[in-house]
Parts: sequence; C-alpha cells; structure tokens
Amino acid sequence: MSEHYLKEYQQSIEHPEKFWQEKARALPWFDFPKQILSKDDNGVERWFAGGMMNTSFMAIDHHVNSGRGNQVAILYDSPASGSKRSLTYNDLLNKVSNFAGVLKSKGVTKGDRVLIYMPMIPEAAVAMLACARLGAIHSVVFGGFAATELAVRIDDAQPKVIVSASCGIELSKIIEYKPLLNDAIDSASYKPESVIVVQRTQARATLDRRHDCDWSYEMQNASPVGATPVKGEDPLYILYTSGTTGAPKGVVRDNGGHAVALNYTMSALYNVSAGDTFWAASDVGWVVGHSYIVYGPLLAGCTTIMYEGKPIRSPDAGAFWRVCEEHKVKVLFAAPTAFRAIKKEDPNGDLIKDYDLSQLDTIFMAGERLDPPTYDWTTQKTGKPVIDHWWQTETGWAICGNYLGFGQSKIKAGSATYPSPGFNIKILNAAGDEVQVGHQGAIAIKLPLPPGCLPTVWGDHHRFQSSYLDEYPGYYCSGDGGYIDEDGYVFVMGRTDDVINVAGHRLSTGEMEEVVAAHQAVAECSVIGVRCRIKGQLPIGLVILKDGASIDPQALQNELTDMINQRIGRIACFKQAIIVPRLPKTRSGKILRNTLRQMADGMEYKVPSTIDDPSSLTEIEILMHEKGLV
Ligand code: COA
Ligand code: AMP
Repeated sequence: MSEHYLKEYQQSIEHPEKFWQEKARALPWFDFPKQILSKDDNGVERWFAGGMMNTSFMAIDHHVNSGRGNQVAILYDSPASGSKRSLTYNDLLNKVSNFAGVLKSKGVTKGDRVLIYMPMIPEAAVAMLACARLGAIHSVVFGGFAATELAVRIDDAQPKVIVSASCGIELSKIIEYKPLLNDAIDSASYKPESVIVVQRTQARATLDRRHDCDWSYEMQNASPVGATPVKGEDPLYILYTSGTTGAPKGVVRDNGGHAVALNYTMSALYNVSAGDTFWAASDVGWVVGHSYIVYGPLLAGCTTIMYEGKPIRSPDAGAFWRVCEEHKVKVLFAAPTAFRAIKKEDPNGDLIKDYDLSQLDTIFMAGERLDPPTYDWTTQKTGKPVIDHWWQTETGWAICGNYLGFGQSKIKAGSATYPSPGFNIKILNAAGDEVQVGHQGAIAIKLPLPPGCLPTVWGDHHRFQSSYLDEYPGYYCSGDGGYIDEDGYVFVMGRTDDVINVAGHRLSTGEMEEVVAAHQAVAECSVIGVRCRIKGQLPIGLVILKDGASIDPQALQNELTDMINQRIGRIACFKQAIIVPRLPKTRSGKILRNTLRQMADGMEYKVPSTIDDPSSLTEIEILMHEKGLV
C-alpha cells in the first residue's frame, strides 16, 4: 500500500468534509458551496447542497474557456456502421447548446425529465449534456431493453420529451427503435409531449405521430442556450437498475457530488489528465457509460471514445487493440466478459501483436468480478497492468480500486484492491457485527456515503431506505458479499440477493420469475444464475408445471425465451428452462433461493435446517448435473 494512498484514505475517513471541500475546489462552481455536508428532508446526508453550478458548463464551456476548444472531446468509432467522427470541445459546445435550445422549445425546463433511448452515437451524449445544461433530469434507457421495460421507465420517470434514434446496430442486425418506442408509449399510462428522433441511414423511422420530430430539422431551427445554474443537490439523472423485485429502481444522481467524485477519480484512480484519451468500452445505457464515457472524461478535459461495436466480430477479436492503437488510448476500461470473449477467439493473443499498444498504460475492468484466469490472460498477453475495481450503479464510481494516481499498489488476482477514499467498508455478519479478517460476510459501507452516491430512489424514498439502509442501521448495504484479507485487500465474491450479472449486464432473477410465472402452463418457478465461461452467469428457469398441464419441454423453453425477450430483452440471454417435480422449500413454504443460488454458482452450500425435504435439493442438483449446468 503506498503511503500516499494511505494518507489520502485516512483523511477522507477522518475529515471527510475538509477532504471533499478540497477536491471540490478543482471544479469551476458558479458559487462555491458554503456547507459541504448537510442533511436533506429525508435525513440523508448530502454533499455540496447549496453550491451553484452546472455539470454541462463544467464539462464543456470551462474547457473551451480555458483554451481546449480545438481538442477532440468525443471520438466516435463505429465498426457497426462503418463510420468514424470526432467532435472537438467547440463542436460539442455548439451541439449541446443547440440541442438544449431544442429541448427548451419543447417546454423542457429545470427539473423536467427527458428519457433517452439511443444507441452508441454521439447524439446520445449531446442529449445527456443538453439536459444537464437546462437543469433537466435525463434518464437513459439501454437500447437492448424491450418495449415493456421502456414503458415501465416512462411511467416512473414521466418524461416530458423522449429522445431516440431510428435504429441500433448489433453486429449485422439492424434493430429498429421507433416501433419499440411506439409500443412502449402506447402501453405506458404516461404520455410524453414530444419524441425527437435521430434518423440513421441504416433504417429511417416513420415520423407519423403527432409528437414526432426529426433531430436534424429541430437542430437547424434551434437557438442555442447557456447553462442554467443548479444547486449541488439537484438531480442530474435517474438511471434504472435491477433490484430484487420486478420493478427497476430509479437511482438518482445529484449534480454536485457526482461532478466532484468523478473529476477526482480521473487523476487519483485512473491517472489521466486533460488531453489524455480515455476509453470506457461500455454503453451510455449503463452507469459506466454515464460516468466514464460521458461525464468523467469530459469533466477532466480528456478525449473520450464512443465505440459502437463489440470486442469480437467487429470485425475480429482485435477490435479493442485496433481502437487503442488508432486513437492512442491511455486507459481502457471494459468488463471481464469482453476479455473472455476475446480470449476465446484469440487464445494466444496473436491479434494483440498486430497493434502498437505503446500508448496504452493500463486496463481497468469492472461490471463483475475479474476472475483470476481472465486477469492472468490479459496481463500476460498485453503486458499491461490490469486493474479490477468494484462498482455499482448506486455509487456511480468505484467503491474499491487500485489508486494509480498515488502509485500502483501490488495487485492480488481476484481482489478489487483497497477501498476508495470516502468509502468506509466493513464486512458484517447477519447480526450486523464485524467479522474477523479473512471471513466472508455482507459488504457494508458506513454512512455517510461519499459524494456521487445515490441519495434516494426516484419517487420512492421508502424503497431506498428499505433496500439499502434498514438491514444494517448506520450502514449502506451493498448487496454484495466478500471479505477483507490480512493486508486490507477487498475480495468481492458475488451478490447475496436475486441480482445476476450476464455479460456485464445487471439483471433481476425476480423480474424474470414474474415473466416465467405468467406462462399458462407454469405453476411455480425459480430463476437462478448458473456459471457461464464467457458471460459470467446465465439465467435458467426451474419450472413446476400446473397439474394436468402437458407441454413439450422444448416448446415450453422456446415460449419462455420468447416471453423474456419480449418483456425484458434479448440481453437477458434466457435460453434454458428445466421442468422439475418440485422446488426445495422451507417448512413454511418459501423457496430456498439462496441455497439454489449457491448450488448453481458451484459454491459449497449447507443444506438449511429449515428445509422441508432435503431430497428436493438433491433432485435438482442431479438434474442440473445431467444438463451440464453445474
Ligand atoms: N440493442 C439490442 N439488442 C442488443 C443490444 C442492444 N443495445 N445489446 C445486446 N443485444 C442483444 C444481442 O444482439 C444478443 O441477441 P441474440 O441473442 O439474438 O444474439 C443478446 O442481446 C445478447 O447480447 P450480448 O450479451 O451482447 O451477447 P453477444 O454474444 O452478442 O456478445 C459479449 C457477448 C461478451 C461480447 C458482449 O456481451 C459484451 O461485449 N459485453 C460487455 C458488456 C459491457 O460492456 N457491459 C458494461 C459493463 S462495464
Ligand atoms: P451495476 O450496478 O450494473 O454496475 O452492477 C453492480 C454489481 O456488479 C455489483 O453489485 C457487483 O455484484 C458486480 N460488480 C461490479 N464490479 C465488480 C467487481 N469489480 N468485482 C466484483 N463484482 C463486481
């Protein structure tokens, strides 16, 4: 552990207000906050509540004003569409001010919501930053979600305007967005006032509804607008994420804490500064995309890359290395699943040798645990330091990491290294007591959470309280389990709830269960995540048929897959359902999901003493073995 990191960490825990006040000074506030930490009406601690600022101003205007106007801000590299484009900070300022003018002309003002359902094109970032400019709250929905998921988010966020594009491109598949959007709007109870669509040449959308508008036309007729001052505690965005129940949670992010935390991490964690090229190979629909494709790199004056493609078949498994060479990427950030996919297609790393990676300093990974074999392969084949860091949508930035800005700490494969400054991590047992070093338990964070973390769930503060704060009073309960070793390294081993991680995408098995249970032949079901060599986990359904129901197992599986694709989206990768005679339950009739989950994960598990009939568990284990699932 470097002394610099230790000092920084200790200061952040012992004198949090002084620590974050200093970090906040790195940003151009309109009115620097007088109070650093205060409590809101819900009793939640808030950072920089009274300071006046604008995130879009900090991320764009400030750099133009400081002479970076001609530097590339966003590099768009799209093997999917066969095109590349770059926007300088000057270009970005023009586009964002203009699009803010478009939104304003549609009646959007401070505090209004705007839903963004877009593929990885620069207009997505422009739309986000334009909302920020007006003090409006954006809610980006990942393009891979189905219409039903979109409708749920429309009803919850109640957006005045929806911004979308005519299509997304998934390798050779063109996914038309407008029909999905129309379906979602038709089925939602809440109706937006306007829908603005970017027309892409791969598939043009029919703009035939009263509220439909064309992005280009609107932009030509727009008047640019300046940045509206907002308070540090005003929300910047809502990002929905999977919880344990069917309804997604709207994670709220404020402006002030978010800007301070992200700007801090760019130098402290990633060791980049203004002018460097930073590439998060994620999607703007996920938190990593929000924080490190859009806001973090731009706040720090870096060049960010928007990549529309996959790590493989774009056109080959050398895609990442090609982008790194061509754009002189200094830091690459992606999910381990992407490297497992690359490793499968290029096991010897031959394609890596075709590219000059001398500018690439470090590879960061997050989204799921970086398994030691993937860590070893990536380190050996690229010769670069590979850093795992642990994240959640809720926190918006890494809870643990290896803080390169303070000197790299020794890497231990399988660990996300040390807690980030501001995160006071404790491992607790079921009674809420700290466990001994090296023992596993629930990973909890002592309150207050540092800047940038969620202060509430949109429209449902009670859910915030019950999901995160009630279990261990005085702590935020992360939903992840793990341990801290004798050297202080944190090992995050997996979720302790019904959330699974499929190819770096966070999904709720509870939500899938609701869909599966709706099938007419299904009496009861449980969806669990089983290990997958490439995607980390894959969902499978364990299904009990209704008495008298007769259906071919393959037909049932196909129908359930269709239902999940329609309701949630293909990203769920739900492809397997097994008919079982019964599910293991407690004597009071509750399905033993935790035990099933441990079994499916290949972990050692104890048969709970509350089980009604232990042979029900053995039956499932045998069935799963027969199918090669465990
Ligand atoms: N719009 C529409 N459909 C989408 C989509 C989108 N934005 N993203 C994925 N899908 C579809 C895919 O086309 C695929 O459909 P199919 O089953 O008909 O082939 C399905 O959802 C699953 O997609 P995906 O999980 O991406 O699988 P894949 O086999 O195409 O690619 C990986 C596998 C590992 C290469 C890819 O998942 C990947 O790059 N993952 C990294 C994700 C990531 O960066 N997460 C952010 C965390 S930091
Ligand atoms: P998301 O909210 O989509 O970012 O997913 C957050 C979840 O992904 C966490 O709660 C973890 O379960 C998992 N996760 C993310 N990064 C890591 C990591 N580096 N190590 C272990 N798990 C991770």
